[in-house]
This record gives sequence, C-alpha cells and structure tokens, in this order.
Amino acid sequence: MAPIPEAPGISETATDNNFSNDEARDKSRVTIVGSGNWGSVAAKLIASNTLKLTAFHDEVRMWVYEETLPSGEKLTDVINKTNENVKYLPGIKLGKNVVADPDIENAVKEANMLVFVTPHQFMEGICKRLVGKIKADVEAISLIKGMEVKPEGPCMISSLISQQLGVNCCVLMGANIANEIAVEKFSEATIGYRENRVTAEKWVQLFYTPYFSVTAVQDVEGVELCGTLKNVVALGAGFVDGLEMGNNTKAAIMRLGLIEMKAFCKLLFSSVKDSTFFESCGVADLITTCLGGRNRKVAEAFAKNGGNRSFDELEAEMLQGQKLQGVSTAREVYEVLSHRGWLQLFPLLATVHEISIGRLPPSAIVNYNEPKAVRGSNKL
Ligand SMILES: NC(=O)c1ccc[n+]([C@@H]2O[C@H](COP(=O)([O-])OP(=O)(O)OC[C@H]3O[C@@H](n4cnc5c(N)ncnc54)[C@H](O)[C@@H]3O)[C@@H](O)[C@H]2O)c1
Repeated sequence: MAPIPEAPGISETATDNNFSNDEARDKSRVTIVGSGNWGSVAAKLIASNTLKLTAFHDEVRMWVYEETLPSGEKLTDVINKTNENVKYLPGIKLGKNVVADPDIENAVKEANMLVFVTPHQFMEGICKRLVGKIKADVEAISLIKGMEVKPEGPCMISSLISQQLGVNCCVLMGANIANEIAVEKFSEATIGYRENRVTAEKWVQLFYTPYFSVTAVQDVEGVELCGTLKNVVALGAGFVDGLEMGNNTKAAIMRLGLIEMKAFCKLLFSSVKDSTFFESCGVADLITTCLGGRNRKVAEAFAKNGGNRSFDELEAEMLQGQKLQGVSTAREVYEVLSHRGWLQLFPLLATVHEISIGRLPPSAIVNYNEPKAVRGSNKL
C-alpha cells in the first residue's frame, strides 16, 4: 500500500494554552451526539486530532443517553472516571479530553461542530429537543445509517437534521466496522458534502488519522444512501450464511445488492454520481458489512433458526444494547418501493424485508428472477 499522506495541519501540536483569548474564541468546539459503539470510536478519532490541531478546542463533549450499569453506577460517571465506554466500547481509552455529558442541551450549547451518531430511529426526537438550543453558526455531520419514511417520501437523516435544525449537514460513511478502527486497524471513509468544500476539508481534518483515511466527495445523497442500503443487503448475506449456501451465493447477493443500491439511489436522486459507488462508502462498505458486522451476524442466526425467532428477540439476546439498523431500513425501503410501484424492480431489497417479517422463508433469498429493468441499469 502506498504511504498515506498526512492530512493538512495534522502535525500542528499547539494546545489551547498557547493562545490568546481572541485565538481561543476562533477555535471550533466539537460535540458528539451519541455514544454507542461507533459514536465512541468517533470520539477517540476526533479527540486525538483536537489535541493536535490549532483550529479546534481540545475538549470534545460527548452526549450520552444515560444508563445505569449492573454495578449501579451511571454510564456517564464511569466514562468520565475511567475514560472508557465500558458498555459500548470496553477496553479502549477514548482520550482524556473526551467529556461525557448526560444533558443534551448542555452538551451542544457551546458547539460549533456537531457530530450526530445515534441509531437512526432516535434522531427525530433528538432534533426536536435541539431546536433553538444550538448556536447559529453550527456545522453538522451525520454518521448515521438509515432513513425516515414520511407521507411525502423518504427523508435521509442528514436532510432531517438540516431541515429541523436549519444547519448545513455533511455525512461520513465507509467500510468502518467500529471495533476494528478502535484498535487502529487501517480503514477508509468517505465524507459527502453539498457545496462547501472548505467545511468538508475541516471535517476531513477532524477525522483523519494515519489509520483512518478520509476522502471528501460532492454527493451527500449518494454517500448516505450507500451507507444506508448496504445494511439491507447484509441481511441477505446473513441469510445465505445461516443456510450455509456458500461464498458463490453470497457473492451473487452482493452483486445484485450493489446493482439495486445503485438503481434505487439514481431513481430517488438523479444527482447521485456513479463514482460514489467506488468510494469506501460504496462497494467497500458493502463488502465489509456482508462479511462481518452485526446485521449479517443476526440475520445468520435468524436463518439458522428457520425464521422462527424474531429479529427483536435475537437483537436483544446477541447485541447487548447495540441496535440493528438493517431490519428497520429494509421496512422503510419496502415502504418506498411499494408506495412508488417499484417492488418488481427491486426483488432483492423487497425479498429481504419479506423474509425479515416472516412472510417468506429465509430460503427465498435466492428465489426470484432478476428483472430486466434493473439488469439494464447495470452500467457501473
Ligand atoms: N458500530 C459500527 O460498527 C458502525 C459503523 C458505522 C456506522 N454505524 C452507525 O452509527 C450509528 C450509531 O451506531 P452505534 O454503533 O454508535 O450505536 P450502538 O448500536 O452501539 O448503541 C446504541 C446507542 O443508542 C443509545 N440509545 C438507546 N436508547 C436511546 C434513546 N431512546 N435515545 C437516544 N439514544 C438511545 C444507546 O445509549 C447507545 O449509545 C448507527 O446509525 C449505525 O448504523 C455503526
């Protein structure tokens, strides 16, 4: 692998203490909204950079959805005492400049840069709580995979944040299984931005490390939809694993999945770029999620049990509080497909949902004909 270039400004070493009041005022304050598995890894990446880069205050605030641990202690207190998220990322130091805060309004009130990283089903409620509580000049980024389906059509999470909070919102997606990045194994990620390249570069600086290589592309919808849809395909890959159908079958699911992802993205947003599917957020994230990842793992168990135990039950048993995104995303995608009369065009995405709700057996994952319309759009 070619040497990885340092991100601009990455070698600066000054700390908050070296600066005058004016300089300190110009620095950006970062708050992370969310503290699960990926949220905690994001905190670690960001905290290592705010210490080095003069453009940011050292401290990184992390809003924690408060929980009481089996020991009787509050999760927030334990994070601040041990510098570890003992529930969602045990064994990894987050950085001493990470401050866990259970009060969401307090956590965001000074921030100029907000990083949203919660399971997507909680975002509508979180946005409602934050209306009027954030600074006027805030820039946001969403690391969240999923969408909201409204009567007027699908709404991506970055759009929900932009619309409800009146802020510009970039996205960061990629082949990023959090536990691997936590132990500093090399991976890549893609930032999607709308117009402002300068802001996108600031986000690159904030996330980039020698083991986390970040590239910015001007395609928010393409990046975000890739990250969202691959969780549905990963359920299909998990069914194949549970039925022990082998690698060729899994590769077939991934191939058709990528074609349907691309066709779905382009039907919803004509602006989506072909090149986005070759970034980390596209084919690379699809591969890693179909080989590892929690959606594949729980879908494997679902198929092994012949579909007789529900995803809710398996999620509670296997994930210790972590959330599955693929099952709710499959339902949301299915709603879009049926509402728009597209079900016949997307047999894989539709079948995954029908299996996950028990309408079809897991073996149906290979029982359909690829429609000509989708095959015809395979011009990757
Ligand atoms: N974990 C990964 O490897 C990974 C990688 C890339 C992207 N993502 C995405 O990041 C997002 C966050 O996932 P994660 O892995 O950090 O979370 P997680 O599934 O590990 O943890 C669940 C989180 O939800 C919180 N929570 C529970 N109930 C809540 C409520 N009512 N309101 C608000 N929060 C509540 C929990 O406290 C916990 O922090 C998801 O969209 C996921 O798809 C995850």
